[in-house]
Order: sequence, then structure tokens, then C-alpha cells
Amino acid sequence: MQEPRWWKECVVYQIYPKSFFDSNSDGIGDIPGITEKLEYLKWLGVDVLWICPVYPSGGFDNGYDISDYESIAGQYGTMEDFEKLLRTCHDCGIKVLLDLVVNHTSDRHPWFMSSQSGTTSPERDLYIWREGRENAEAPSNWGALFGGPAWTQEGPGGQYYLHLFSPRQPDLNWGNEQLRQRIYAMMSRWLDRGVDGFRMDVISLIAKPGEMADGPAGLSGYYDPRAQIAANPELHGYLREMRSSVLDGRDVVTVGEASAIGLEQARVITDPDNGELDMLFQFEHMDLDGGETFKWTDRAIQLPDLKRVMDRWQQGLDTVGWGALFWNNHDQPRMLSRMGDEGRFRETSAKMLATCLHMMKGTPFIYQGEEIGMTNMPFSHVNQLRDNESIQAFWHYTRSGMIPEQDMMQYIRLKCRDNARTPMQWSAQPQAGFTDAVPWMDVNPNYPDVNVQEQRGRPDSILAWYRSLIDLRHRHAVIVYGDYTPYDSDNPHVYAYLRSLDNQTLFVCCNFSASPRTCTLPRGFDGSNVTVLLDNTADSEYLSHSLLAPYESIILLKEGPHHGATHS
Ligand code: GLC
Ligand code: CA
Repeated sequence: MQEPRWWKECVVYQIYPKSFFDSNSDGIGDIPGITEKLEYLKWLGVDVLWICPVYPSGGFDNGYDISDYESIAGQYGTMEDFEKLLRTCHDCGIKVLLDLVVNHTSDRHPWFMSSQSGTTSPERDLYIWREGRENAEAPSNWGALFGGPAWTQEGPGGQYYLHLFSPRQPDLNWGNEQLRQRIYAMMSRWLDRGVDGFRMDVISLIAKPGEMADGPAGLSGYYDPRAQIAANPELHGYLREMRSSVLDGRDVVTVGEASAIGLEQARVITDPDNGELDMLFQFEHMDLDGGETFKWTDRAIQLPDLKRVMDRWQQGLDTVGWGALFWNNHDQPRMLSRMGDEGRFRETSAKMLATCLHMMKGTPFIYQGEEIGMTNMPFSHVNQLRDNESIQAFWHYTRSGMIPEQDMMQYIRLKCRDNARTPMQWSAQPQAGFTDAVPWMDVNPNYPDVNVQEQRGRPDSILAWYRSLIDLRHRHAVIVYGDYTPYDSDNPHVYAYLRSLDNQTLFVCCNFSASPRTCTLPRGFDGSNVTVLLDNTADSEYLSHSLLAPYESIILLKEGPHHGATHS
């Protein structure tokens, strides 16, 4: 068994403050709004909150373009509001993680404005500047994630600065010792204030290789350098230095957002002996429905691919390291719309998806609204979008003629990040009870049916199901520490697996389809020593006929020696 740690036993709840709850009727969610809703989160049973950026920002990427690391943006409240939130959380036993965005800053950050002021600025080297090539060409053919080149020139004949996301988000130069010391000092001050750790934004990309050379261009005309950057071994040195400078001796947790990280490297990063990070978000499963035009396709995730990827990560981190489990976050369309059923089986499929994830090995993350089965938004026009990523992609792909407008709108409905960012649906009141004003972004029209108030009083709701899953985790060590073994791997419709610890074995069986499916009961699971912990289907025929109803999911617990994963 792996070493017990509190953060392995937790469930984390992710809050996107702008869309969580508006306490002062300006249409924007805020920090006092989170404090007001703590009673709900405590009732739900979550242990930790991850709060997306609330710092002053350039306003280009909803807070992921920070202009001041050590204050609170006025729209979200004051430092006193933040401290009150933190105190109230701690009083009721909830920990708080802040979002640490240190791959880049806003172009309005004073460090960048100074760096930009000229080659002799003492802060020039806090960012990454290079001379262009001949014929006014950028230093390399790297592309930015939000479209266009990753290099922007500072005036005619000037140097270029690197920005992996957008020109408004210049990348920091982690090779600069002074920069690293400033970041570590800033982190220490937040920890001194009492925060319990950090979710680290694109931490896998902080270590830029010395030579940022051309690579094979994709359809966009640019090279996507992320895999090359993430593979740079210098990353490990920075993470170890960060730990020894800031984190050692404090009982906090770190979760890295690790886009483009492979399994082998993830093992190194989360192996406790290496002193880097506690856990990682990997994205291989989220990228399964992408294609040549990035995520802008109507390709869907296929269950066999999802199983292959999840199994590989589950087994790869089973003995060393630790993973963060998620189906949703603020950058992803809603998983219920992606792999569940928004219609007749909305509730059943939402519960099934939750079961499948929460019983895996790793720390589960719930993204706001997931626990009530919020779905994608039926966007019909580009002016309903708020996220620059999709707005820019819309114009880029349609103007270049690569994707017809109607198709692009369809892809946006399926994949855009704004799907996750519509206001939290609290009740059937106007604007879903999120605000008394006009919300900063439209509320999903399904709020009269899908909201907290309706589900809170209903024992068979999705919300009640999440509450039960959280409670199970707190009561059964096998859910936290048990070994993971895939079961019936070749079944294209059912995702099943076993977890085992000491003399307990858990069997989790999930039907990912809208038709009844069979999956044989594992050996030893037909006796009197087996308990049904949860089943999302009334009158289940699973134990009697090995038959799963549409989107059925069942969790069985067996006491007694573990028999391995063989069929009966
Ligand atoms: C991360 C964030 C995302 C942001 C990006 C750039 O991926 O989760 O929201 O746009 O980093 O900071
Ligand atoms: Ca507000």
C-alpha cells in the first residue's frame, strides 16, 4: 500500500469564481459569494476547494493573465474578503488551494512592462526575448495555443518575446534565478496567509529548452512545441528547487496541470522520493476527441480509447506517484454532454460517470455544477461566447475557409470552454439564482430543471449520489489505497475494474451505453460476503443476470481474500 496522506483521502471541489455566486448583484460571481455557499459545500462533504484565479488580471483569459500576484481583483472582492473565506473554510474543516499561474503573466504585469521597456531594463531577462531571423522572420515557427505565432515583435527591428498562449500572456523566463526567487517568495507569502497549497497552471511548460528550434508545422502553419518543452529535464530541477525553497516543512498539497506530459515523466514528478509535486492532472483522455484542427471537430471520445488511456495511467501510477482524477474543469466541455446522455438518461448517466471516476485510484476533483448534472450550453451565435480562445478560433477557421461557419458553430457547441463557464444553477429563480442582475454570461436555459435547490431535497438526485460517493471514500480505505485492476477490458460498452486492499475487493461496473449490456460477475462476487454499496438503477438485474440497464453503474464490496481478475 502507498503511504497514507490526507490529500489522497480527499475530494476536491473546483470553483470558477466568476460563475459561482454573485453576492453583490453586479452579474459577476465573487469571493463573498463563495463564503455564502460554504454551507452547501460542507453539506456536500468535499474536503478541499481549488479556487481559480482571483488576482488582478489583464482580463484577457478570465484571470489566467495575472497582473498582480499578491492582491485580489476588485470584481471578486478584497483581501479581507479572501481572508474571511479562508478562515470560514478552515473553521468548517475545508482546505483551500489557490491557482498558481507562473508560466506566464499578463502583458500588464509591472514586470513585463519593465522588461518590455528596453533591452537594458534590469527586468528584461524575466521574460524570454530573442532576435528575429533574417527577412523579419520570428525566431522559430512555434505556434501559440490561442492561435497565431508564439512570438511577437516589440516594434520594428525589435526583439521578439515568447508567449505560448496569447500575445497578452508573455512567458516568464524560469532560467532566470531572480525570477524564480520572486515566485518562491510570493508563494511563501500566500502559504503564510494560510492557504493549503496550489493548483499549478501549465506547470509542465515552465522550463523552455535552450534552443527553441523549428519543428514540423501542423495545419495552422505553426509547430506545437508543448511536447518538446514538457520533455525538457530542467523542469525537474525547478520543481525540486521550488519544493525545497517553499514547500518543505509545510503540510500543503501541490497539483500540477501537466499538459503534454507522458506517463514516465509523471511518475518521476509525483514519486514522493523525488520531492517534486504531489499529484498531476494528465490530459490524454481529454484529448481523445481532438484532431488536425485541434479540438475543433465533431469527433467523440470512444469508450475503448478512454479505457485504454485511463487503465494505462491507473496502472502506471499504481505503485509510485499519484494522479488527480477529473472528467470536468473550466477548460473542458461538460463530460455529461460528451459521454453521457443529456436527455432521458441524464440523471442515470451523470451518476454512472461519477461512479466510474470516483472509484478509481487518485484524488477526485468535482467541477462546479458537475454534481447536479449541468450540461453543455446550446450556443447559437458567436456573440454569446466569452472565451477568447473560441472567439479567435471561430474567426480564424471560418475566415481562412478551413471550416464552414455552421460546422464551426457546431464544433464550438461541442467543445468550447464556455460550456463549463455558464453560471452555477442554484435554483429555478431567474438567472438560476446566480445573480439578481444581468449575468456576465448567459445562464443555461435548462436551469428550471437542473438546479441545486430541486436536487438537494431529493434522495435519488445526482447531487445526493455525489454526496454518497464522497461519503464512501471517507469510509472505505480500499477506495483510496486499493490496487487497480482492469476487468473485461475488451468490452466496448462497459467500463469495469477491481480495487483491492487487504481482504477487501471493490468491483465497479459501468455501462457507458443507452442499451442494456452484459458483463460477467467476477469470481467470488456471488456469495453472501458481497454488499452492494451503490447502484443507480432500481430493480437492477445485474446480480441475477449479469445484465446492466442503460447507463447502469454498480459498486460491489466483497470481504475475504482477493481472487484476482479472472472471470467466474
Ligand atoms: C491553463 C488554464 C486555462 C488557461 C491556460 C493559460 O490551461 O486552465 O484556463 O487559459 O492555462 O493560462
Ligand atoms: Ca459580484
